[in-house]
Amino acid sequence: MSTVGKVIKCRAAVAWEVKGPFVIEEIEVAPPKAYEIRIKIYASGICHTDDHALGGFMAGITFPIILGHEGAGIVESIGEGVTCVKPGDRVIPLCNPQCGECVCCLHPDSNFCLKNDVGKNTGLMLDKTSRFSCKGKLIHNFMSCSTFTEYTVVDEIAIVKIDPKAPMDQVCLIGCGFSTGYGTVLNTAKVKPGSTCAVFGLGGIGISAVIGCKVAGAARIIGIDINKGKFAKGKELGCTECLDPNDYDKPIQDVIVEMTNGGVDYSFECVGKIDVMVSTIQASHFAFGNVNIIGVPPSTARLTIDPMWLLTGRTMNGAFLGDWKAKDSFPGLVKDAMDKKFDLGALVTHKLPFVKINEGFELMRDGKCVRTVLEM
Ligand code: APR
Ligand code: ZN
Ligand code: ZN
Repeated sequence: MSTVGKVIKCRAAVAWEVKGPFVIEEIEVAPPKAYEIRIKIYASGICHTDDHALGGFMAGITFPIILGHEGAGIVESIGEGVTCVKPGDRVIPLCNPQCGECVCCLHPDSNFCLKNDVGKNTGLMLDKTSRFSCKGKLIHNFMSCSTFTEYTVVDEIAIVKIDPKAPMDQVCLIGCGFSTGYGTVLNTAKVKPGSTCAVFGLGGIGISAVIGCKVAGAARIIGIDINKGKFAKGKELGCTECLDPNDYDKPIQDVIVEMTNGGVDYSFECVGKIDVMVSTIQASHFAFGNVNIIGVPPSTARLTIDPMWLLTGRTMNGAFLGDWKAKDSFPGLVKDAMDKKFDLGALVTHKLPFVKINEGFELMRDGKCVRTVLEM
């Protein structure tokens, strides 16, 4: 029996209130309106940003909500006017859409579509309504996606068709974590062959940055983490050495400056803590260091710097989703993964059935995984 045009009842992990936990509920998912697409989600990675939102560290975030923004699935049905996908297509929902019309989409150097929900956190479709409800209550969506559910609805600007043979339990990571770390290295920093890099934080984002540094041909890739349990994976995927700041009686940036004859060429903050951002700046060479902020701190946090840190010649960049224009780039990244240009599967250290979502978040909080992928 076709579900097209009908309300679908399915399971979703609803966060009813700040700090959770997730409750597996039966929800109703309304059919897609014009220029919207309903997707059956097959896999979703658990990203630190979901925990950040759950914890209430994101300004404006509204509950109840269905989180998740790193998914892959298959189109179930399309609304009127949709041309970019058809039912049966394998797709990735986009936590940073590409409308193709706004000043950022038209600018060659930006991917920050003005129609994204980043920082606004309205938790609604572009028409300011929701397709989710549960027990008579409206449920919000998250970052234009919501992937912790069996079915979701997204706007046409927030979806891209990928290779029909792509392994969904891996390419879901292209939806956020992998693309963020890897893209910041290649698109934002533009790491050069033979250079020296420092990657702070070896979680899903940091390890993806390490993969990027290796693909870019960096000669030295220094991984820094306070959890030595992350070092084996870091070395497997490209770190030439790994440091634990707790092993030294001086700031880790001083250790790195000594090890590298004045500081690294490129440094990456993949943690989301202000003190680590300071280390990331100071570990780079004062005259030509290229600093990249990827981690997301709590919305009230502020970074204070001495302007001399930049005046001497350093540059400092920020990037969202690795500077990829998602619609243009993700199908190619999926192809690169399938062609084994990089080992996406190596990032997936744990897989869990969707209903064990709370366990998946505990694995991340306890630092036991690089990425946990939930399978619906
Ligand atoms: N110094 C070095 N590493 C640290 C420190 C520190 N002071 N504190 C934490 N870490 C390490 C953790 O041990 C962990 O391995 O940082 C890593 C963070 O990894 P995850 O929790 O897996 O987070 P991830 O999904 O990679 O995201 C990192 O990027 O997109 C943002 O919101 C995201 O701010 C988060 C960051
Ligand atoms: Zn746009
Ligand atoms: Zn994410």
